[in-house]
Amino acid sequence: MSAKQFDVVVIGGGPGGYIAAIRAAQLGFNVACVDEWKNDKGGPAPGGTCTNVGCIPSKALLQSSEHFDHANHHFADHGISADNVKIDIAKMLGRKDQVVKQNNDGILYLFKKNKVSFFHGRGSFVAAKDGGYELKAGDETLQAKHVILATGSNARALPGATFDEENILSNDGALRIGAVPKKLGVIGSGVIGLEMGSVWRRLGSEVTVLEGLPTFLGAVDESVAKEAAKLFKKQGLKIELGVKIGEVKSGKKGVAVAYTDAKGEAQTLEVDKLIISIGRVPNTIGLNAEAVGLKLDERGAIIVDDDCKTSLPNVWAVGDVVRGPMLAHKAEEEGVAVAERIAGQHGHVNFNTIPWVIYTSPEIAWVGRTEQQLKADGVAYKAGQFPFLANGRARALGDTNGFVKFLADAKTDEILGVHIIGPFASELISEAVVAMEFKASAEDIARICHAHPSLSEATKEAALAVDKRTLNF
Ligand code: FAD
Ligand code: NAI
Repeated sequence: MSAKQFDVVVIGGGPGGYIAAIRAAQLGFNVACVDEWKNDKGGPAPGGTCTNVGCIPSKALLQSSEHFDHANHHFADHGISADNVKIDIAKMLGRKDQVVKQNNDGILYLFKKNKVSFFHGRGSFVAAKDGGYELKAGDETLQAKHVILATGSNARALPGATFDEENILSNDGALRIGAVPKKLGVIGSGVIGLEMGSVWRRLGSEVTVLEGLPTFLGAVDESVAKEAAKLFKKQGLKIELGVKIGEVKSGKKGVAVAYTDAKGEAQTLEVDKLIISIGRVPNTIGLNAEAVGLKLDERGAIIVDDDCKTSLPNVWAVGDVVRGPMLAHKAEEEGVAVAERIAGQHGHVNFNTIPWVIYTSPEIAWVGRTEQQLKADGVAYKAGQFPFLANGRARALGDTNGFVKFLADAKTDEILGVHIIGPFASELISEAVVAMEFKASAEDIARICHAHPSLSEATKEAALAVDKRTLNF
Protein backbone atom coordinates (compact mmCIF):
# COMPACT_ATOMS: atom_id res chain seq x y z
CA MET A 1 0.00 0.00 0.00
CA SER A 2 1.45 3.38 -0.94
CA ALA A 3 2.05 6.01 1.73
CA LYS A 4 -0.45 8.85 2.10
CA GLN A 5 1.32 12.15 1.39
CA PHE A 6 1.10 15.18 3.68
CA ASP A 7 2.88 18.51 3.96
CA VAL A 8 2.63 18.38 7.75
CA VAL A 9 1.98 15.42 10.06
CA VAL A 10 1.38 16.22 13.73
CA ILE A 11 1.88 13.39 16.22
CA GLY A 12 -0.22 14.01 19.33
CA GLY A 13 -3.66 15.60 19.46
CA GLY A 14 -3.42 17.52 22.76
CA PRO A 15 -3.54 21.34 22.89
CA GLY A 16 -0.09 21.60 21.34
CA GLY A 17 -0.80 19.15 18.52
CA TYR A 18 -4.40 19.83 17.54
CA ILE A 19 -3.89 23.59 17.53
CA ALA A 20 -0.70 23.23 15.42
CA ALA A 21 -2.65 21.05 12.96
CA ILE A 22 -5.49 23.57 12.65
CA ARG A 23 -3.13 26.54 12.22
CA ALA A 24 -1.08 24.64 9.58
CA ALA A 25 -4.30 23.81 7.70
CA GLN A 26 -5.39 27.48 7.88
CA LEU A 27 -2.06 28.35 6.26
CA GLY A 28 -2.89 26.12 3.29
CA PHE A 29 -0.97 22.95 4.11
CA ASN A 30 -2.25 19.43 3.62
CA VAL A 31 -2.23 18.27 7.27
CA ALA A 32 -2.70 15.06 9.25
CA CYS A 33 -2.93 14.68 13.03
CA VAL A 34 -2.30 11.31 14.67
CA ASP A 35 -3.52 10.70 18.21
CA GLU A 36 -3.85 7.47 20.13
CA TRP A 37 -6.02 8.49 23.14
CA LYS A 38 -9.03 6.15 23.50
CA ASN A 39 -12.36 6.88 25.16
CA ASP A 40 -14.14 4.25 27.29
CA LYS A 41 -15.52 2.62 24.15
CA GLY A 42 -12.13 2.47 22.43
CA GLY A 43 -12.98 5.35 20.10
CA PRO A 44 -10.92 8.48 19.46
CA ALA A 45 -10.68 11.10 22.21
CA PRO A 46 -8.47 13.90 20.88
CA GLY A 47 -7.46 16.71 23.23
CA GLY A 48 -4.70 14.90 25.09
CA THR A 49 -4.03 15.10 28.80
CA CYS A 50 -5.64 18.54 28.95
CA THR A 51 -9.04 17.44 27.66
CA ASN A 52 -9.18 13.88 28.98
CA VAL A 53 -7.43 13.84 32.36
CA GLY A 54 -6.20 17.37 32.98
CA CYS A 55 -7.40 20.95 32.64
CA ILE A 56 -10.98 20.28 31.56
CA PRO A 57 -12.15 17.45 33.85
CA SER A 58 -10.36 18.97 36.85
CA LYS A 59 -12.15 22.28 36.30
CA ALA A 60 -15.49 20.46 35.94
CA LEU A 61 -14.97 18.80 39.34
CA LEU A 62 -13.70 22.03 40.88
CA GLN A 63 -16.95 23.69 39.76
CA SER A 64 -19.19 20.90 41.11
CA SER A 65 -17.39 20.78 44.43
CA GLU A 66 -17.48 24.57 44.72
CA HIS A 67 -21.28 24.56 44.25
CA PHE A 68 -21.52 21.92 47.00
CA ASP A 69 -19.29 23.99 49.28
CA HIS A 70 -21.36 27.12 48.62
CA ALA A 71 -24.63 25.31 49.29
CA ASN A 72 -23.24 24.00 52.58
CA HIS A 73 -21.40 27.06 53.83
CA HIS A 74 -22.32 30.24 51.96
CA PHE A 75 -25.98 30.10 50.85
CA ALA A 76 -27.12 30.85 54.41
CA ASP A 77 -25.38 34.27 54.22
CA HIS A 78 -27.75 35.12 51.37
CA GLY A 79 -30.80 33.99 53.33
CA ILE A 80 -31.09 30.77 51.36
CA SER A 81 -31.62 27.67 53.46
CA ALA A 82 -30.29 24.46 52.05
CA ASP A 83 -30.44 21.81 54.74
CA ASN A 84 -29.24 18.29 54.27
CA VAL A 85 -27.38 19.07 51.02
CA LYS A 86 -26.33 15.87 49.29
CA ILE A 87 -23.98 15.10 46.46
CA ASP A 88 -24.40 12.27 43.97
CA ILE A 89 -20.78 11.48 43.08
CA ALA A 90 -21.74 9.23 40.15
CA LYS A 91 -23.75 12.07 38.65
CA MET A 92 -20.96 14.57 39.25
CA LEU A 93 -18.47 12.24 37.50
CA GLY A 94 -20.97 11.64 34.68
CA ARG A 95 -21.28 15.39 34.12
CA LYS A 96 -17.49 15.70 34.06
CA ASP A 97 -17.32 12.90 31.45
CA GLN A 98 -19.93 14.72 29.35
CA VAL A 99 -17.89 17.93 29.47
CA VAL A 100 -14.84 15.96 28.34
CA LYS A 101 -16.81 14.33 25.51
CA GLN A 102 -18.09 17.71 24.30
CA ASN A 103 -14.48 18.83 24.02
CA ASN A 104 -13.37 15.60 22.25
CA ASP A 105 -16.22 15.96 19.76
CA GLY A 106 -15.45 19.65 19.33
CA ILE A 107 -11.91 18.87 18.24
CA LEU A 108 -13.08 16.20 15.75
CA TYR A 109 -15.50 18.80 14.34
CA LEU A 110 -12.68 21.38 14.08
CA PHE A 111 -10.51 18.86 12.20
CA LYS A 112 -13.33 18.32 9.69
CA LYS A 113 -14.01 22.05 9.36
CA ASN A 114 -10.32 22.76 8.69
CA LYS A 115 -9.80 19.65 6.50
CA VAL A 116 -7.23 18.10 8.83
CA SER A 117 -7.02 14.30 8.26
CA PHE A 118 -7.29 12.57 11.63
CA PHE A 119 -5.73 9.16 12.30
CA HIS A 120 -6.63 7.34 15.50
CA GLY A 121 -3.68 5.25 16.62
CA ARG A 122 -0.03 5.45 17.50
CA GLY A 123 2.23 7.61 15.37
CA SER A 124 5.87 6.62 15.01
CA PHE A 125 8.90 7.20 12.82
CA VAL A 126 9.81 4.56 10.26
CA ALA A 127 12.69 6.28 8.48
CA ALA A 128 13.89 9.51 6.89
CA LYS A 129 12.79 9.18 3.26
CA ASP A 130 12.56 11.30 0.07
CA GLY A 131 13.68 14.46 1.88
CA GLY A 132 10.95 13.95 4.48
CA TYR A 133 9.83 11.20 6.84
CA GLU A 134 7.97 7.94 6.53
CA LEU A 135 5.68 7.45 9.50
CA LYS A 136 3.25 4.90 10.86
CA ALA A 137 -0.18 6.09 11.99
CA GLY A 138 -1.84 2.99 13.44
CA ASP A 139 -1.90 0.60 10.48
CA GLU A 140 -1.48 3.32 7.86
CA THR A 141 1.74 4.58 6.34
CA LEU A 142 2.19 8.32 5.90
CA GLN A 143 4.85 10.38 4.16
CA ALA A 144 5.44 13.88 5.59
CA LYS A 145 7.54 16.85 4.52
CA HIS A 146 7.33 18.31 8.04
CA VAL A 147 6.65 16.56 11.34
CA ILE A 148 5.43 18.27 14.52
CA LEU A 149 5.82 16.20 17.68
CA ALA A 150 3.36 17.02 20.46
CA THR A 151 3.34 13.81 22.48
CA GLY A 152 2.86 15.45 25.87
CA SER A 153 3.75 14.15 29.31
CA ASN A 154 2.87 11.49 31.89
CA ALA A 155 2.55 11.65 35.67
CA ARG A 156 5.87 11.13 37.44
CA ALA A 157 5.78 8.01 39.61
CA LEU A 158 7.20 7.84 43.11
CA PRO A 159 9.71 4.98 43.31
CA GLY A 160 8.15 2.10 45.26
CA ALA A 161 4.58 3.37 44.84
CA THR A 162 3.22 2.17 41.51
CA PHE A 163 0.02 3.86 40.31
CA ASP A 164 -2.76 1.26 40.51
CA GLU A 165 -5.46 3.96 40.02
CA GLU A 166 -7.47 2.23 42.77
CA ASN A 167 -5.62 3.24 45.93
CA ILE A 168 -2.52 4.96 44.58
CA LEU A 169 -3.73 7.54 42.09
CA SER A 170 -2.21 9.68 39.38
CA ASN A 171 -4.19 12.64 38.02
CA ASP A 172 -6.19 10.06 36.04
CA GLY A 173 -7.47 8.11 39.06
CA ALA A 174 -7.83 11.31 41.12
CA LEU A 175 -10.50 12.43 38.65
CA ARG A 176 -12.43 9.15 38.93
CA ILE A 177 -12.72 8.45 42.67
CA GLY A 178 -16.15 6.83 42.96
CA ALA A 179 -17.03 7.79 46.55
CA VAL A 180 -15.77 10.53 48.84
CA PRO A 181 -12.80 9.02 50.70
CA LYS A 182 -12.91 9.63 54.45
CA LYS A 183 -9.19 10.31 54.44
CA LEU A 184 -7.26 11.40 51.37
CA GLY A 185 -3.48 11.75 51.20
CA VAL A 186 -1.68 13.81 48.58
CA ILE A 187 2.06 13.73 47.93
CA GLY A 188 3.24 17.01 46.40
CA SER A 189 1.72 20.43 47.15
CA GLY A 190 2.03 21.65 43.56
CA VAL A 191 -0.75 22.62 41.20
CA ILE A 192 -2.42 19.20 40.89
CA GLY A 193 -2.10 18.43 44.62
CA LEU A 194 -3.79 21.71 45.58
CA GLU A 195 -6.52 21.57 42.92
CA MET A 196 -7.44 17.90 43.45
CA GLY A 197 -6.99 18.19 47.22
CA SER A 198 -9.45 21.12 47.15
CA VAL A 199 -12.05 19.13 45.17
CA TRP A 200 -12.16 16.23 47.61
CA ARG A 201 -11.84 18.42 50.73
CA ARG A 202 -14.90 20.42 49.64
CA LEU A 203 -16.77 17.15 49.17
CA GLY A 204 -15.96 16.07 52.73
CA SER A 205 -12.60 14.28 52.74
CA GLU A 206 -10.04 14.93 55.42
CA VAL A 207 -7.11 15.87 53.19
CA THR A 208 -3.42 15.79 54.17
CA VAL A 209 -0.81 17.03 51.71
CA LEU A 210 2.81 15.97 52.18
CA GLU A 211 5.37 18.20 50.49
CA GLY A 212 9.10 17.50 50.16
CA LEU A 213 10.27 21.11 49.99
CA PRO A 214 10.45 23.29 53.10
CA THR A 215 8.68 26.20 51.35
CA PHE A 216 5.06 26.28 50.21
CA LEU A 217 4.47 27.20 46.54
CA GLY A 218 8.07 28.26 45.98
CA ALA A 219 7.44 29.50 42.41
CA VAL A 220 4.65 31.84 43.54
CA ASP A 221 5.19 35.38 44.87
CA GLU A 222 5.98 34.97 48.57
CA SER A 223 3.17 37.21 49.82
CA VAL A 224 0.63 35.29 47.70
CA ALA A 225 1.99 31.93 48.90
CA LYS A 226 1.73 33.13 52.51
CA GLU A 227 -1.87 34.28 52.04
CA ALA A 228 -2.75 30.99 50.28
CA ALA A 229 -1.20 28.89 53.08
CA LYS A 230 -3.25 30.84 55.65
CA LEU A 231 -6.53 30.46 53.75
CA PHE A 232 -6.04 26.78 52.84
CA LYS A 233 -5.30 26.01 56.51
CA LYS A 234 -8.49 27.82 57.52
CA GLN A 235 -10.42 25.69 55.02
CA GLY A 236 -9.09 22.55 56.68
CA LEU A 237 -6.46 21.46 54.15
CA LYS A 238 -3.56 20.03 56.17
CA ILE A 239 -0.22 20.72 54.51
CA GLU A 240 3.04 19.36 55.93
CA LEU A 241 6.20 20.79 54.44
CA GLY A 242 9.77 19.47 54.41
CA VAL A 243 8.84 15.80 54.65
CA LYS A 244 10.81 12.84 53.30
CA ILE A 245 8.59 10.08 51.98
CA GLY A 246 9.56 6.52 52.95
CA GLU A 247 7.72 3.28 52.27
CA VAL A 248 4.24 3.45 50.74
CA LYS A 249 2.14 0.36 51.50
CA SER A 250 -1.17 -0.25 49.76
CA GLY A 251 -3.63 -2.86 50.98
CA LYS A 252 -7.34 -3.66 51.22
CA LYS A 253 -7.86 -1.03 53.93
CA GLY A 254 -6.11 1.78 52.07
CA VAL A 255 -2.62 3.22 51.96
CA ALA A 256 -0.02 3.79 54.68
CA VAL A 257 2.67 6.35 53.91
CA ALA A 258 5.74 6.28 56.13
CA TYR A 259 7.59 9.60 56.19
CA THR A 260 10.00 11.68 58.18
CA ASP A 261 8.59 15.06 59.16
CA ALA A 262 10.42 18.41 59.10
CA LYS A 263 11.67 17.79 62.67
CA GLY A 264 13.20 14.48 61.58
CA GLU A 265 10.60 12.39 63.39
CA ALA A 266 9.20 9.21 61.87
CA GLN A 267 5.47 9.42 61.04
CA THR A 268 2.84 7.37 59.24
CA LEU A 269 -0.12 8.75 57.35
CA GLU A 270 -2.99 6.29 56.90
CA VAL A 271 -5.48 7.17 54.20
CA ASP A 272 -8.18 5.55 52.08
CA LYS A 273 -6.73 6.93 48.84
CA LEU A 274 -3.41 8.51 47.95
CA ILE A 275 -2.85 10.95 45.08
CA ILE A 276 0.74 11.29 43.92
CA SER A 277 1.31 14.60 42.16
CA ILE A 278 5.05 15.21 42.12
CA GLY A 279 5.41 16.59 38.61
CA ARG A 280 5.21 15.17 35.11
CA VAL A 281 7.72 13.63 32.71
CA PRO A 282 7.92 14.23 28.95
CA ASN A 283 6.49 11.38 26.88
CA THR A 284 8.22 9.93 23.81
CA ILE A 285 7.16 6.31 24.36
CA GLY A 286 6.41 4.55 21.09
CA LEU A 287 7.67 7.34 18.81
CA ASN A 288 10.56 5.15 17.62
CA ALA A 289 12.78 8.22 17.94
CA GLU A 290 15.86 5.98 17.65
CA ALA A 291 14.98 5.08 14.03
CA VAL A 292 15.73 8.64 12.95
CA GLY A 293 18.21 9.67 15.67
CA LEU A 294 15.98 12.27 17.35
CA LYS A 295 17.89 13.77 20.31
CA LEU A 296 16.41 13.77 23.83
CA ASP A 297 17.86 15.37 26.96
CA GLU A 298 18.56 13.59 30.26
CA ARG A 299 14.93 14.16 31.41
CA GLY A 300 13.63 12.48 28.26
CA ALA A 301 12.42 15.80 26.76
CA ILE A 302 12.91 16.34 23.05
CA ILE A 303 15.75 18.84 22.61
CA VAL A 304 14.59 21.95 20.76
CA ASP A 305 15.98 25.41 20.10
CA ASP A 306 14.11 28.67 20.80
CA ASP A 307 12.06 28.08 17.62
CA CYS A 308 11.00 24.53 18.62
CA LYS A 309 13.30 22.97 15.98
CA THR A 310 14.58 19.53 16.99
CA SER A 311 17.92 17.95 16.10
CA LEU A 312 16.39 16.70 12.80
CA PRO A 313 15.62 18.81 9.73
CA ASN A 314 11.91 19.68 9.36
CA VAL A 315 11.02 17.98 12.65
CA TRP A 316 9.59 20.28 15.30
CA ALA A 317 8.37 19.64 18.85
CA VAL A 318 6.00 21.60 21.11
CA GLY A 319 4.25 21.47 24.47
CA ASP A 320 4.95 19.30 27.50
CA VAL A 321 7.41 17.10 25.58
CA VAL A 322 9.89 20.01 25.34
CA ARG A 323 11.46 22.48 27.83
CA GLY A 324 9.43 25.18 29.53
CA PRO A 325 6.29 25.24 31.65
CA MET A 326 3.87 22.34 31.25
CA LEU A 327 0.79 24.42 30.47
CA ALA A 328 -1.88 23.95 27.82
CA HIS A 329 -1.74 27.56 26.61
CA LYS A 330 2.07 27.40 26.30
CA ALA A 331 1.68 24.24 24.18
CA GLU A 332 -0.93 25.99 21.99
CA GLU A 333 1.20 29.09 21.46
CA GLU A 334 4.16 26.93 20.43
CA GLY A 335 1.91 24.94 18.07
CA VAL A 336 0.73 28.11 16.33
CA ALA A 337 4.26 29.53 16.14
CA VAL A 338 5.67 26.33 14.60
CA ALA A 339 2.93 26.13 11.94
CA GLU A 340 3.68 29.76 11.05
CA ARG A 341 7.44 29.13 10.90
CA ILE A 342 6.86 26.18 8.54
CA ALA A 343 4.93 28.65 6.34
CA GLY A 344 7.94 31.00 6.38
CA GLN A 345 6.33 33.42 8.82
CA HIS A 346 7.80 34.69 12.10
CA GLY A 347 5.82 32.86 14.77
CA HIS A 348 6.76 34.01 18.27
CA VAL A 349 6.09 32.91 21.85
CA ASN A 350 6.82 35.39 24.62
CA PHE A 351 7.83 33.27 27.62
CA ASN A 352 7.82 36.37 29.84
CA THR A 353 4.09 36.85 29.52
CA ILE A 354 2.77 33.32 29.96
CA PRO A 355 0.14 33.45 32.70
CA TRP A 356 -0.10 30.83 35.46
CA VAL A 357 -3.31 29.96 37.27
CA ILE A 358 -4.03 27.66 40.20
CA TYR A 359 -7.77 27.01 40.32
CA THR A 360 -8.14 26.71 44.06
CA SER A 361 -10.50 28.85 46.09
CA PRO A 362 -9.45 31.59 46.10
CA GLU A 363 -7.81 31.33 42.71
CA ILE A 364 -4.15 32.23 42.32
CA ALA A 365 -2.88 33.78 39.09
CA TRP A 366 0.24 35.57 38.06
CA VAL A 367 2.32 36.78 35.13
CA GLY A 368 5.88 38.01 35.04
CA ARG A 369 8.40 38.04 37.83
CA THR A 370 7.82 37.60 41.58
CA GLU A 371 9.17 39.97 44.21
CA GLN A 372 11.77 37.39 45.24
CA GLN A 373 12.92 37.00 41.61
CA LEU A 374 13.29 40.77 41.20
CA LYS A 375 15.37 40.91 44.38
CA ALA A 376 17.55 38.03 43.17
CA ASP A 377 17.97 39.76 39.78
CA GLY A 378 18.94 43.02 41.50
CA VAL A 379 16.11 44.97 39.83
CA ALA A 380 14.91 48.12 41.57
CA TYR A 381 11.10 47.94 41.76
CA LYS A 382 8.03 49.51 43.32
CA ALA A 383 5.16 47.39 44.68
CA GLY A 384 1.48 48.25 44.96
CA GLN A 385 -1.21 46.08 46.53
CA PHE A 386 -4.99 46.31 46.88
CA PRO A 387 -7.17 43.96 48.97
CA PHE A 388 -10.47 42.54 47.65
CA LEU A 389 -11.87 43.42 51.08
CA ALA A 390 -12.04 47.02 49.85
CA ASN A 391 -13.68 46.15 46.50
CA GLY A 392 -17.46 46.63 46.24
CA ARG A 393 -18.06 43.78 43.81
CA ALA A 394 -16.08 41.34 45.96
CA ARG A 395 -18.19 42.36 48.97
CA ALA A 396 -21.38 41.81 46.96
CA LEU A 397 -20.07 38.41 45.89
CA GLY A 398 -19.24 37.57 49.50
CA ASP A 399 -15.72 36.70 48.39
CA THR A 400 -13.29 39.21 49.84
CA ASN A 401 -10.19 37.08 50.47
CA GLY A 402 -6.93 38.00 48.79
CA PHE A 403 -5.46 40.90 46.86
CA VAL A 404 -3.96 42.15 43.61
CA LYS A 405 -0.29 43.06 43.64
CA PHE A 406 1.66 45.02 41.04
CA LEU A 407 5.42 45.10 40.67
CA ALA A 408 6.78 47.87 38.46
CA ASP A 409 10.22 49.09 37.51
CA ALA A 410 11.35 51.78 39.99
CA LYS A 411 12.59 54.07 37.24
CA THR A 412 10.43 53.46 34.17
CA ASP A 413 7.24 52.24 35.93
CA GLU A 414 7.04 49.33 33.41
CA ILE A 415 4.98 46.46 34.84
CA LEU A 416 7.32 43.56 35.71
CA GLY A 417 4.87 41.23 37.41
CA VAL A 418 1.25 41.00 38.55
CA HIS A 419 0.14 38.58 41.25
CA ILE A 420 -3.46 37.92 42.19
CA ILE A 421 -5.05 35.77 44.85
CA GLY A 422 -8.79 36.14 44.97
CA PRO A 423 -12.10 35.65 43.13
CA PHE A 424 -11.81 35.08 39.37
CA ALA A 425 -8.05 35.67 39.43
CA SER A 426 -7.92 33.41 36.33
CA GLU A 427 -9.94 35.98 34.37
CA LEU A 428 -8.44 39.11 35.94
CA ILE A 429 -4.90 38.12 35.01
CA SER A 430 -5.62 38.62 31.28
CA GLU A 431 -5.54 42.40 31.67
CA ALA A 432 -2.06 42.14 33.19
CA VAL A 433 -0.91 39.85 30.35
CA VAL A 434 -2.10 42.34 27.74
CA ALA A 435 -0.50 45.21 29.64
CA MET A 436 2.86 43.44 29.89
CA GLU A 437 2.75 42.33 26.26
CA PHE A 438 2.31 46.01 25.30
CA LYS A 439 5.03 47.03 27.80
CA ALA A 440 2.56 49.16 29.73
CA SER A 441 3.46 51.09 32.86
CA ALA A 442 1.52 50.77 36.12
CA GLU A 443 0.28 54.29 35.47
CA ASP A 444 -1.26 53.17 32.15
CA ILE A 445 -3.50 50.72 34.02
CA ALA A 446 -4.18 53.27 36.75
CA ARG A 447 -5.45 55.76 34.14
CA ILE A 448 -7.73 53.31 32.28
CA CYS A 449 -11.46 53.43 33.07
CA HIS A 450 -12.59 50.14 34.68
CA ALA A 451 -16.28 49.24 35.01
CA HIS A 452 -17.92 49.72 38.40
CA PRO A 453 -18.61 47.65 40.35
CA SER A 454 -16.16 45.05 39.08
CA LEU A 455 -13.33 42.97 40.45
CA SER A 456 -11.11 44.56 37.81
CA GLU A 457 -11.25 47.79 39.83
CA ALA A 458 -8.96 46.01 42.31
CA THR A 459 -6.44 45.70 39.46
CA LYS A 460 -6.68 49.43 38.74
CA GLU A 461 -6.35 50.23 42.44
CA ALA A 462 -3.28 47.99 42.80
CA ALA A 463 -1.74 49.90 39.87
CA LEU A 464 -2.58 53.16 41.68
CA ALA A 465 -1.01 51.71 44.84
CA VAL A 466 2.34 51.53 43.01
CA ASP A 467 2.28 55.34 43.20
CA LYS A 468 0.78 55.24 46.71
CA ARG A 469 -2.50 56.82 45.61
CA THR A 470 -5.25 54.24 46.01
CA LEU A 471 -8.68 55.85 46.05
CA ASN A 472 -10.67 53.23 47.94
CA PHE A 473 -8.21 52.01 50.56
P1 FAD B 1 -0.88 16.34 25.88
O1 FAD B 1 -2.09 17.12 26.24
O2 FAD B 1 -0.33 15.41 26.90
O3 FAD B 1 -1.26 15.55 24.56
C1 FAD B 1 -0.42 14.62 23.99
C2 FAD B 1 -1.25 13.68 23.14
O4 FAD B 1 -0.38 12.91 22.32
C3 FAD B 1 -2.07 12.67 23.94
O5 FAD B 1 -3.38 12.60 23.43
C4 FAD B 1 -1.34 11.35 23.71
O6 FAD B 1 -2.20 10.23 23.73
C5 FAD B 1 -0.82 11.56 22.31
N1 FAD B 1 0.36 10.75 21.97
C6 FAD B 1 1.52 10.60 22.65
N2 FAD B 1 2.37 9.81 21.96
C7 FAD B 1 1.72 9.47 20.82
C8 FAD B 1 2.08 8.69 19.71
N3 FAD B 1 3.29 8.12 19.59
N4 FAD B 1 1.16 8.52 18.73
C9 FAD B 1 -0.07 9.10 18.81
N5 FAD B 1 -0.44 9.86 19.84
C10 FAD B 1 0.44 10.04 20.83
N6 FAD B 1 -2.58 23.25 32.02
C11 FAD B 1 -3.15 24.46 31.97
O7 FAD B 1 -2.68 25.33 31.22
N7 FAD B 1 -4.26 24.76 32.72
C12 FAD B 1 -4.81 23.85 33.54
O8 FAD B 1 -5.81 24.15 34.21
C13 FAD B 1 -4.23 22.57 33.64
N8 FAD B 1 -4.75 21.64 34.45
C14 FAD B 1 -4.19 20.40 34.49
C15 FAD B 1 -4.73 19.48 35.37
C16 FAD B 1 -4.17 18.22 35.46
C17 FAD B 1 -4.77 17.22 36.40
C18 FAD B 1 -3.06 17.88 34.63
C19 FAD B 1 -2.48 16.50 34.67
C20 FAD B 1 -2.52 18.80 33.76
C21 FAD B 1 -3.07 20.08 33.70
N9 FAD B 1 -2.54 21.06 32.87
C22 FAD B 1 -3.09 22.30 32.83
C23 FAD B 1 -1.37 20.79 32.01
C24 FAD B 1 -1.84 20.50 30.57
O9 FAD B 1 -2.73 19.40 30.59
C25 FAD B 1 -0.65 20.19 29.68
O10 FAD B 1 0.30 21.22 29.78
C26 FAD B 1 -1.09 20.06 28.23
O11 FAD B 1 -2.03 19.02 28.09
C27 FAD B 1 0.10 19.78 27.32
O12 FAD B 1 -0.34 19.66 26.01
P2 FAD B 1 0.44 18.77 24.93
O13 FAD B 1 -0.29 18.94 23.66
O14 FAD B 1 1.88 19.12 24.97
O15 FAD B 1 0.33 17.28 25.45
P1 NAI C 1 4.17 20.48 40.33
O1 NAI C 1 5.52 20.60 39.76
O2 NAI C 1 3.23 21.62 40.25
O3 NAI C 1 4.28 20.13 41.89
C1 NAI C 1 4.95 18.99 42.35
C2 NAI C 1 5.22 19.16 43.83
O4 NAI C 1 5.65 17.91 44.33
C3 NAI C 1 6.31 20.18 44.13
O5 NAI C 1 5.89 21.05 45.14
C4 NAI C 1 7.48 19.30 44.55
O6 NAI C 1 8.34 19.94 45.46
C5 NAI C 1 6.77 18.12 45.18
N1 NAI C 1 7.55 16.89 45.20
C6 NAI C 1 8.31 16.38 44.20
N2 NAI C 1 8.85 15.21 44.58
C7 NAI C 1 8.40 14.97 45.84
C8 NAI C 1 8.59 13.90 46.75
N3 NAI C 1 9.35 12.85 46.45
N4 NAI C 1 7.99 13.99 47.96
C9 NAI C 1 7.20 15.05 48.29
N5 NAI C 1 7.00 16.08 47.45
C10 NAI C 1 7.57 16.04 46.23
O7 NAI C 1 3.56 19.15 39.69
P2 NAI C 1 2.09 18.58 39.61
O8 NAI C 1 1.22 19.15 40.67
O9 NAI C 1 2.26 17.11 39.54
O10 NAI C 1 1.56 19.11 38.23
C11 NAI C 1 2.31 18.84 37.05
C12 NAI C 1 2.19 19.96 36.09
O11 NAI C 1 0.90 19.98 35.51
C13 NAI C 1 2.34 21.34 36.72
O12 NAI C 1 3.68 21.71 36.84
C14 NAI C 1 1.63 22.22 35.77
O13 NAI C 1 2.51 22.59 34.76
C15 NAI C 1 0.55 21.31 35.19
N6 NAI C 1 -0.73 21.65 35.79
C16 NAI C 1 -1.23 22.91 35.59
C17 NAI C 1 -2.41 23.29 36.17
C18 NAI C 1 -2.89 24.67 35.97
O14 NAI C 1 -2.36 25.36 35.11
N7 NAI C 1 -3.89 25.13 36.72
C19 NAI C 1 -3.21 22.37 36.99
C20 NAI C 1 -2.57 21.09 37.16
C21 NAI C 1 -1.40 20.76 36.56
